[in-house]
Amino acid sequence: MKIFSGSSNKLLAEKIAKELKLDLFPLGIHIFPDNEKRVRVVDKVVDEDTVVVQSASPKPDENYMELFFIIDALKRSGAKSVTAVIPYLGYQRQDHVFRDGEAVSLEVIIKTLEAVGMDKLITLDLHSVKIPKLFSVPVAHLSALPIFARKVKELFPRLFNDAILVSPDMGGIRRIQILSELLNIPYVSIVKDRDLTTGDIKSTEIESKFSDWKKGIKKAIIVDDMISTGRTIVAAIELLTRNGIRENFVFATHPVFSNDFKNILQDSSAQKIFVTDTIEVEKEKMFDKLGVLTISKVIADELRILVTSN
Ligand code: R5P
Repeated sequence: MKIFSGSSNKLLAEKIAKELKLDLFPLGIHIFPDNEKRVRVVDKVVDEDTVVVQSASPKPDENYMELFFIIDALKRSGAKSVTAVIPYLGYQRQDHVFRDGEAVSLEVIIKTLEAVGMDKLITLDLHSVKIPKLFSVPVAHLSALPIFARKVKELFPRLFNDAILVSPDMGGIRRIQILSELLNIPYVSIVKDRDLTTGDIKSTEIESKFSDWKKGIKKAIIVDDMISTGRTIVAAIELLTRNGIRENFVFATHPVFSNDFKNILQDSSAQKIFVTDTIEVEKEKMFDKLGVLTISKVIADELRILVTSN
């Protein structure tokens, strides 16, 4: 198996290769003065199973174009298979038509990835569990939840009777149920409204099947698939605080981090915010409350299965 990396998250690609005790193979990526790119596979890949790691953030369009070219180049160079590791699958939130006249951007991305020759996709914590069904090729949908569970246990070795797990919107209910089983902590879910035109977020109420969930509860462990502007998290924290929660710990798989996220999150009353390295967090995006956990082993373990099954 030969592993390659696009430009978006080389650090993660290196960590995955290291886990597998493999070298990362170089690609020739040349940027022309007008910003077009030329991608070239330098090493021989004839009859090889190949893997390319490329996250779709930041700069989703650029990163996707580069990935399309890499897959095309690998296939034209004779690779037996191309597995794309797209730790954060950009455009996943546009997976159906929300309002008349919209494009289904995710479908366009899927059609292109398959047209250029992707044989398998490895990705993490998709926004909707229905997304893998939109692909014709096999999809390994992995999760950072076991890593979050481990971190929670490490932070609070003797919790758990004063903590509640929180999904900041109803879409995250499946995730929070899985974590609830892993940690044996009850959960609640927040009802969130987002204005599709302005993007404004309102967290309106807390729903729970545990009627007395507030009893003795001081800590919230909020879990989401991604943080973009940070407004979902802050709206959740404000609602929880109004309901008697004193400490908030946040876990989100994908640090999409956009707009004024840094000030919003650093100034929030969260104690700590953990994300993973599905998207590289550059130095200028770091802030004191942020912790980054690596998902390289989760991906490497999946790639090991690929090696043994071929
Ligand atoms: C949306 O439903 C997702 O699960 C996230 O909650 C959302 O994308 C986060 O976006 P933001 O940080 O901009 O509120």
